[in-house]
Amino acid sequence: MTRYQIIFFILFTFSNSIIQLQSEHLKNNNCPHLFKTLSDCTCVQTNTIDCSYSTTITHLPRSWTSTNHNLTLFTQSILRFDLLHTPSITSIKTNDFQGLYNLRDLSIINTGLITIQPHAFRHLHRLHELRIELNRNLIELKSFALSDIEYVHRISLKSNSIRVIHTEVFRNTHFVDILDLSDNPLEIIESYAFNGLKSVGTLILCLLPTCPIKQIDSFAFFWISYM
Ligand SMILES: *[C@@H]1O[C@H](CO)[C@@H](O)[C@H](O)[C@H]1NC(C)=O
Repeated sequence: MTRYQIIFFILFTFSNSIIQLQSEHLKNNNCPHLFKTLSDCTCVQTNTIDCSYSTTITHLPRSWTSTNHNLTLFTQSILRFDLLHTPSITSIKTNDFQGLYNLRDLSIINTGLITIQPHAFRHLHRLHELRIELNRNLIELKSFALSDIEYVHRISLKSNSIRVIHTEVFRNTHFVDILDLSDNPLEIIESYAFNGLKSVGTLILCLLPTCPIKQIDSFAFFWISYM
């Protein structure tokens, strides 16, 4: 072979293996085919659903159960869910994760998130850490948005664009050790905003010198009386 033939041969072999790798990646995402909305995600790594850098995912599966398929083995195995750098996700709906009973770590970071519906994370009894960060379209926490997460230890809401925390956002979310709300343009904290957080160890609202809070309604920290 001439030198050019050799170079061409190497290039050809190399690009072929890249094409092969890509198609294998698409075929073997290992997420159950029933969940069409996860077609751009991978479930390859043990116990993780990874939707990072997906440009097509707009919502989570309507249900994690099916009458025709037994998905228990899959749903119970999932410990971690990553939604990172996914601009097409704009809302987390009520009970979106119901059925992923063993979920421990959930990250929703740098997405197009605008709305967290009431009770979005309800029934996640094993949830240990919830990270909702760098979502620049998230400007308010609606009532009950983070309610009923009974055993969670750390909730990070760092670096979103949250201006308003409405009343009873965290109702029945009992076991938070650290709640981090730093780096948000917080303006209004309504009455009973933190009601229900019975065992908060550390609550970070903002870090000096940027503390833009304008209004803290009476009883905003009502939960303190339980501590
Ligand atoms: C579904 O699968 C799980 C685990 O394999 C099993 O324990 C359970 O009995 C199955 N349920 C039904 C309804 O077949």
